[in-house]
Amino acid sequence: MARQFFVGGNFKMNGSVEAIKKIIGYLNDAKLDPNTEVVIAPPALYLLLAREHLKPGLEVAAQNVFDKPNGAFTGEISVDQLKDSNITWTLLGHSERRVILQEDDQFVASKTKAALDGGIGVIFCCGESLEQRESGKTIDVVTMQLKAVKDKVSDWSKIVIAYEPIWAIGTGKVASTEQAQEVHAAIRSWLKKEISEKVAEETRIIYGGSVSEKNCKDLSKQPDIDGFLVGGASLKPAFVDIINSHL
Ligand code: G3P
Repeated sequence: MARQFFVGGNFKMNGSVEAIKKIIGYLNDAKLDPNTEVVIAPPALYLLLAREHLKPGLEVAAQNVFDKPNGAFTGEISVDQLKDSNITWTLLGHSERRVILQEDDQFVASKTKAALDGGIGVIFCCGESLEQRESGKTIDVVTMQLKAVKDKVSDWSKIVIAYEPIWAIGTGKVASTEQAQEVHAAIRSWLKKEISEKVAEETRIIYGGSVSEKNCKDLSKQPDIDGFLVGGASLKPAFVDIINSHL
């Protein structure tokens, strides 16, 4: 079965009311590939703004969500609050949260379970550091991150896996098509062996890390690259070209 191409835009801690409205404006005006699933992840403060103004068919993701229900967790956002705001996706496990905020594999997996149990789709981020790649540990690192999810989650139908080599994030050093395809294929093999052939076949595995309008076409032609998670370029009009890279 053909997997629907998926493009996410991770705005990270960027934007303002005016800037987000501008991005929404040109996404709403653009002719977007109807066969590509598009999800944008603005900062939490602007989730409702994005939800309210985005044209139907474009979805909104939080950049994170907590793993406990509403309560005394200052600064956190709950799954129920995302659902209450008609937010249908969340990023989880982004390397910036794993590294800077010290989120470990178990915590990310626990949040993944909470989101899925609450009916929110999860864009699950995984990837290795340059040091781990150079020491040949890439696949071990990524499969360990995925195993933490396997230990808590049984339904993978609402998970999109985003492979984001840390050394390619924000650096302009995009992974080569061979490097990206190799890891995506290894992730799909892991899904087939550890979860099921069906999940391996149906799960979108998207690439993130310095994706641009210049490199997205070649990457999108790889058999196991089912889309992108775009950072910096998602804040620019060229994001439309990346969304349409699969045309
Ligand atoms: O989540 C996507 C992000 O980590 C990639 O960032 O700026 O390298 O596209 P960027």
